[in-house]
Amino acid sequence: MSNATTLDVPASNAAIETRRSAAIARGVGVTTQIYAEKAENAEIWDKEGRRYIDFAAGIAVVNTGHRHPKVIAAVKEQLDRFTHTCHQVVPYENYVELAERLNQTVPGDFAKKTIFVTTGAEATENAIKIARAATGRSAVIAFAGAFHGRTFMGMSMTGKVAPYKVGFGPMMPEVFHIPFPVELHGYTTEASLAALDKLFKADVDPNRVAAFIVEPVQGEGGFYEAPRAFLSELRAIADRHGIVLIADEVQTGFARTGRMFAMERTGVVADLTTMAKGLGGGFPIAAVTGRADLMDAPGVGGLGGTYAGNPIGVAAANAVLGVIAEERLCERAEQLGSRLKQRLQSLVEAVPQIVDVRGPGFMNAVEFNVPGTDTPSAEFTNKVRLRALEKGLILLTCGVYGNVVRFLAPLTIEDATFSEALDILEETLRECAAEA
Ligand SMILES: Cc1ncc(COP(=O)(O)O)c(C=O)c1O
Repeated sequence: MSNATTLDVPASNAAIETRRSAAIARGVGVTTQIYAEKAENAEIWDKEGRRYIDFAAGIAVVNTGHRHPKVIAAVKEQLDRFTHTCHQVVPYENYVELAERLNQTVPGDFAKKTIFVTTGAEATENAIKIARAATGRSAVIAFAGAFHGRTFMGMSMTGKVAPYKVGFGPMMPEVFHIPFPVELHGYTTEASLAALDKLFKADVDPNRVAAFIVEPVQGEGGFYEAPRAFLSELRAIADRHGIVLIADEVQTGFARTGRMFAMERTGVVADLTTMAKGLGGGFPIAAVTGRADLMDAPGVGGLGGTYAGNPIGVAAANAVLGVIAEERLCERAEQLGSRLKQRLQSLVEAVPQIVDVRGPGFMNAVEFNVPGTDTPSAEFTNKVRLRALEKGLILLTCGVYGNVVRFLAPLTIEDATFSEALDILEETLRECAAEA
């Protein structure tokens, strides 16, 4: 058989990498060339038996750790009963239970309803469909630096051209971007609001705007927290013009920021909230929860999907919500984040590339420039990522200029593993700075 040789290839990382690049389209970028063999809580072992500490958590997915015993038990139990009936054909109770729990948990002192889908991009797509159906309007306002997914509307709302939009145009019509308020880069709350005002005068009548979509902490864009004053003014403008405010909590959700949802930190309440990643603890499930009257705007059959709210993802998510409460993961996020930020701040003198250490809870980041300049240093950032990987620590970068390292370890990480990771991080930063 022609693939016999393929199966005979020794399972080294390099050998699989060669097969990967021959078999998989290059559009699916991969940041490490290590191949996972097994994972437990905050650790991953590769095919060659090497152990890594995972500060990526599958991009903010396994907030409850790899293979949390309660999540795995819930999934096994579900596997033994049924795996798929399609909720639109033969529904199941745990889907309803999960919706009831999210309706209770998502911020907002009003009647709520929920739908389930499979990925974050589908959640943001559906939030726009709901906002359009509810308002009868079409325009959407998003932010520079935003990330809302790789589907057509998700990509159109994303505020970063390369690599997400290159070659895929034209984008969806009537999607506008204004600057996200990032003081560090000279965009104040006032400047962003002035840009919105100008947009309303120059480009789009506010009475044609269906929705604002905003990440309370920009994820892919660089881990910038939206100022409270900005979000509260956005809320007021939305109310004034009948615009739906969507909080995209796909990356910020589920205890990552020290609250169940990052919007809780601001006191501002969105009309619709999109969720994915941490909700399923490693199993694909996503959701939109919001005002019941808005959620009911689309007609019967207008929302859903074959796998939307798959029983395995639903079972995992119900277990995840239990684990977050039982293990007090919001408090744990605050403790871990404050230890990490302290350690990074203690290195500011030794590592002159550091320009900022930030982030709520355990959604933290460090930003690097060429020392003594305002020039972002993607080169230094990448060097740090690769050096850390050599030392057994998986890090992720982000930011429009690629000059931010973001930290997203599981919130369940053991103290000893966390301390070990901090030591590797410090050693990495010191070495990279000394060699620069
Ligand atoms: C804020 C935000 N929205 C949407 C998405 C898209 O989610 P998915 O990759 O599950 O489609 C992401 C993914 O990183 C995200 O961070």
